[in-house]
Amino acid sequence: MTRPREAARFVLAAAGFLLAGCDQEVPAPLRVASGDPGRGHRLVSASGCGACHVIPGVRGASSWVGPPLTEWARRGYVAGHLPNTPDNLVAWLRDPQAISPGSAMPSTGLTEAEARDAAAYLLTLGARRLPAVPAGMPLGPDSEGPRPEPRLRPRA
Ligand code: HEC
Repeated sequence: MTRPREAARFVLAAAGFLLAGCDQEVPAPLRVASGDPGRGHRLVSASGCGACHVIPGVRGASSWVGPPLTEWARRGYVAGHLPNTPDNLVAWLRDPQAISPGSAMPSTGLTEAEARDAAAYLLTLGARRLPAVPAGMPLGPDSEGPRPEPRLRPRA
């Protein structure tokens, strides 16, 4: 009776293929060095982030105390302060108060490695729907990065 074992092997191979495929969807500038999205997902689920945030894929994370983290990979800025790059997101997750003193987001107590994993998970959200130039790229008038909406531009 090798059938069940073969089936199990097939399922594992298919799951591995799908996971590898997911990873590839995060464009290089948004990949977090040594961050693991799977570990990050478990960490974010266990760290109470959902008490304040809507976070796709995280059970019970449906609170609107803080901004929703939906399609996070497409976001231009972290807390309106820092361009949304992996390093800036990790810095925010480690110590939000250092970046935005008085912010309603408390210090998380995450270690560097944990913050890297959490950031890696958040940056998978919406990564599939990124335009050619990912969020977090320079926004200057001469850059190739995303432009502000026309209605938000100051009048000449
Ligand atoms: C007590 C509520 C609370 C908890 C718990 C909390 N946050 Fe936040 N978070 C906030 C608030 C409020 C902001 C907006 C802060 C600001 O803009 O200064 C924020 C901002 C953020 C941002 C930037 C959002 C944006 O739109 O720029 C990220 C990313 C984030 N939080 C992730 C997390 C993660 C991951 C956790 C769990 C480890 C977590 N937060 C736990 C309240 C919380």
